[in-house]
Amino acid sequence: MEIIRTSAEMTAWANRVIAAGETIGLVPTMGFFHEGHLRLMRKVGEKANRTVVSLFVNPIQFGVDEDLCRYPRDFPRDCQLAEAEGVDVIFAPEPQEMYLPEAHTRVIVSGLTDGLCGKSRPGHFAGVTTVVAKLFHIIKPHCAVFGRKDFQQLAVIERMVADLNFEVEIIGHPIVRETDGLAMSSRNTYLSAPERQAALCLFRAIGHARRRVRDGLVEAQVLLGEVEGVLHSEGVTIEYASLVDQATLQPQAVLRKGVVLAMAIKVGATRLIDNDNLFEEN
Ligand code: PAJ
Repeated sequence: MEIIRTSAEMTAWANRVIAAGETIGLVPTMGFFHEGHLRLMRKVGEKANRTVVSLFVNPIQFGVDEDLCRYPRDFPRDCQLAEAEGVDVIFAPEPQEMYLPEAHTRVIVSGLTDGLCGKSRPGHFAGVTTVVAKLFHIIKPHCAVFGRKDFQQLAVIERMVADLNFEVEIIGHPIVRETDGLAMSSRNTYLSAPERQAALCLFRAIGHARRRVRDGLVEAQVLLGEVEGVLHSEGVTIEYASLVDQATLQPQAVLRKGVVLAMAIKVGATRLIDNDNLFEEN
């Protein structure tokens, strides 16, 4: 496995691979890999001849009071794990390589980024779409895999790709969970043992919502009240709990196919998100 640090070398590699008639699959990440990341790598390996994992803790998608400085990192371990998955290249640029001091351009997807996580994290999605657009230009992937754990991020990237004519197939991957249901996240390492227990309320809320939908409940407002009850029972702070359309991300009054339960909570100082497409098989 090669480790590439500069955009010029990365693009030279991509040009050689494409000239040889091969396809490139990309998994963009911020590192500190868990099984969720590794599954994305396996998935992209099925779709393309060559796989690139980008590992870049993107400073411009963090707010000033967010966890950029303490975001967990373990580059040697990440390299071992990626190599074991058969990844061809880790692209790990330094921030000054990605963002020149004179850089002035942001890619902004409007509308879809106003609600849910966009509300409490202004500028976050502009940071994500800007770095992902840059990665697509530098790495020239034929396909790229993103997790549905970050369901709004996936919708925003699909919109950007369609709106800006990127020639890349976006593949969504189901949420990978621990055996007790907690969605895997690099940020789970921040949780103390009691916080880790409390965080399970997200998965319990999903289970509750699925049961209520299966039993025929149609009023979103009623379900939201119950979901908030499940979350509050663990004393966590609810940032949002919403029932939104999977494509428009607009809140829905009626529960029907295509409605997603999306939640963000704070457990202690740690912000966690989870979601579930209530009408889809898991
Ligand atoms: P990061 O949080 O490292 O996540 C990298 C990819 O892994 C994302 O597509 C995310 O949705 C996916 N992922 C994380 N946990 C997952 C889980 N439990 N199940 C399934 N997929 C999971 O998301 C980012 O990085 C950044 O915003 C990035 C897109 C790299 C741009 O900087």
